[in-house]
This record gives sequence, C-alpha cells and structure tokens, in this order.
Amino acid sequence: MANAQTFENIRDIHSVREDFPILHQEVNGKPLVYFDNAATSQKPQVVIDAVASYYQGINSNVHRGVHKLSQLATDAFEQTRNKVKNLLNAQHAYEVIFTSGTTAGINLVASSYGQKFVSPGDEILISHMEHHSNIVPWQLLCERQGAHLKVIPITDSGELDMEAFYELLSEKTKLISLVFISNALGTINPVKEIIQAAHSKEIPVLLDAAQAIPHQAVDVQELDCDFLVFSGHKILAPTGTGILYGKEKWLNEMPPFLGGGDMIDVVRFEKTTYAGLPHKFEAGTPDIAGVVGMGTAIDYIQEIGYGFIDQQEKLLLEYGTRKLEELGYIQIIGTSQQKTSVISFLIEGIHPYDAGTILDHMGVAIRTGHHCTQPIMERFSIPGTMRASFAFYNTLEEIDRLIEAIKQAKLMLG
Ligand code: ALA
Repeated sequence: MANAQTFENIRDIHSVREDFPILHQEVNGKPLVYFDNAATSQKPQVVIDAVASYYQGINSNVHRGVHKLSQLATDAFEQTRNKVKNLLNAQHAYEVIFTSGTTAGINLVASSYGQKFVSPGDEILISHMEHHSNIVPWQLLCERQGAHLKVIPITDSGELDMEAFYELLSEKTKLISLVFISNALGTINPVKEIIQAAHSKEIPVLLDAAQAIPHQAVDVQELDCDFLVFSGHKILAPTGTGILYGKEKWLNEMPPFLGGGDMIDVVRFEKTTYAGLPHKFEAGTPDIAGVVGMGTAIDYIQEIGYGFIDQQEKLLLEYGTRKLEELGYIQIIGTSQQKTSVISFLIEGIHPYDAGTILDHMGVAIRTGHHCTQPIMERFSIPGTMRASFAFYNTLEEIDRLIEAIKQAKLMLG
C-alpha cells in the first residue's frame, strides 16, 4: 500500500478531500475512486454553495435592469470576468469572453475569424493530437471557405513532430489551432516555441487550454497567444461555462458570432450596430449562476495554489506510471517527457471497454474509448484506451485501488 507519510511535507490531502462531498460515497458498493478528471472535475462545496446562494439571493438577469437584484447579478458576473483576467494575466477584462465551454470558444473563432480572414486556398494548421472539438470546426470552416486543413504529425511517444511543424508553416497558413495539453496522451506541447515561430510569420495561434488550466498557471501575455479557450467544468466550476480569451486587436476586427440581445448597440431594420467588447460576443442570457460558480472555483484554485496542484499531480503521475509498468502487461500510450497527470493505457489482450466495466464494478471510475480523439487511436492502430486522469484531490491509495482492480480484470478476462 502507498504510504500516507508521503504527503507529510505538503498540505494535508485528506482535509482537501473534505471539500469535495461527491468523493465520499460508495459506487457499486465500493468507495468511489474518481479518475475521470480529464472528462470533468468534481466541485468543492464552496462552488455548490455559491450557485445555490446566487439562486436563493440574487437571481436576476445581467446588464439589463436598474433594479437592485439585476445590479447584484451583474456585479457578481463581472467580478468573475476580472478573476479570469487575473488568472490568465490578460491585459484587459474585455478580452475575456464567456462561452458555454471550450467547444463553443473554438467554434466562435473558427466562424468569426474564419469569415473575416480565411479565403480560398488558405491553410489552417492543427495537430494529429487534437480533440474532435479542435478538428471539426476547422473542417467546417475549410469547407465553407475553400481552405485546407493541415495536420502536424505526432511521434510514437505522442509528441509533436516539430520538424514537420516547421515544414508545414507557410505564407498560406492563416491560423494555428493547437492543443496545449493532450486529453488522451497527457503530452504538454511546446506552445511557446510554436507561438514564436508562428508570430515570426505573422500567423496567429489559438490554444485549446481545456486540459492545461486545471493543472498549471497560464499567462497569456507571457505566452503571447492570440486566442485561448477553456472550460469551467474542468476547473471545479459548473458545467455550461467556458472562456474565450482573445487579443483585443483580433476581437475588435472579428464580426459577431451569434446575434441577439446584449450584443447590440442600436437595432434598426435597415442596419444594426454592435456593442463593443466583450458584449459583442455574448448574445443572449448567459449561464449567470455558472459564471458566479466559476468565480468561486477560481478563488478556490488560487487558495489551493498551482504549486500544490503541481506537486500532488506529479506524485500521482509518477506513482501511477510506475505501478502500472510493474504489472508487466500494460502498454502506456503517450510517453512524452513533458506530461500531465493523464495515463492512457491498454491491458494486454483485453478490450478497454470490458476492463473499464470491471473497474466500474469495483468503484473505480476511469474513461474508456477514443476520448474524442479518433485520429490518435488510428495513429496508434488501437480501438481506444483506458484513461486514468488524476486531480490534486486524488491519493496514492486510490492508485493502489486502481491497480488491484486491473489485476482483477486481468484475472477475469485475460
Ligand atoms: N474532453 C473530455 C475528455 O477528455 C470530455 O474526457
């Protein structure tokens, strides 16, 4: 068994776990081990409370009423925008656009930037390790505009082939849209190098940071990325929330994406003029309660600290990798030197779905399948993987439970 003393020099993990009510339950008669954090994170009680008290005390629409509740709702909503600005070190709060999630953010840029800046024969560059949400919107755009999608290949260890990347950059490249950290492989990509290379040719870069913000501090000014998207639900916040960060110069030049209330200046049947940033891109009533919850989630993450998160997750990644390798019948997919706390693996001779079902019976929740990254599975000629993705509230003892469950699956199916 893992030695609880391992944690003696860092904050008490067991007190951190007390903040997450969902972790203290049995699933299929066994204490829950939740290792599906890359799909969605669990929520601390303070976030759940923030959503409840919003509905209990101030529920109202934002940016619309002079009445007290509307002002309180607007203040709470805009406070979160400032918290996101500080979290990302954005230059201006109006460069922070609320969306319903990473997918919505990418679709917004693909549609709006694409309409303005992409012409027939142009190229959009992505990589072979993208989530479907960073592939399909660009395919739709390319079909609409007569442009071409180019793909940076990946190596056997699940890293970007950087030589190929440099060869693929051309005067036709109109945008690079790249995953910061792969949800299926755990690979942390050299995004700074890529952004510098792109900018030397005046090509803007969008980062899909859905798997980055949960694990590490991200500074958009230091990275100098042009766009960055992420989801609230992967950083302890409610589902249905997300962020698009965009540099002011791009957002100002891009046409609106959705039309409707709150994004207008003056509406006339002859011609409508639009609101400035950020409202130009925020048509309709947003998920106000979710955004308020996101503000509390950001406070919680900052209180815990990325230092603690990093220390804890490195421990889990190192221990989990070692324990899986010691079994002798595990193939790990994604062995990059720069990796986050995601382990995709296969048990020799066993379909991931069958093994995942046995793990579930033993209370261990992992994700099985293609993880919305079918091209990666094709690249490695596999049907899918089992994926254990750890958060800072997971423990080494839980990894021991995973290993025991895998042994059981091997015994039953192998
Ligand atoms: N993109 C999420 C995952 O990797 C849903 O599971």
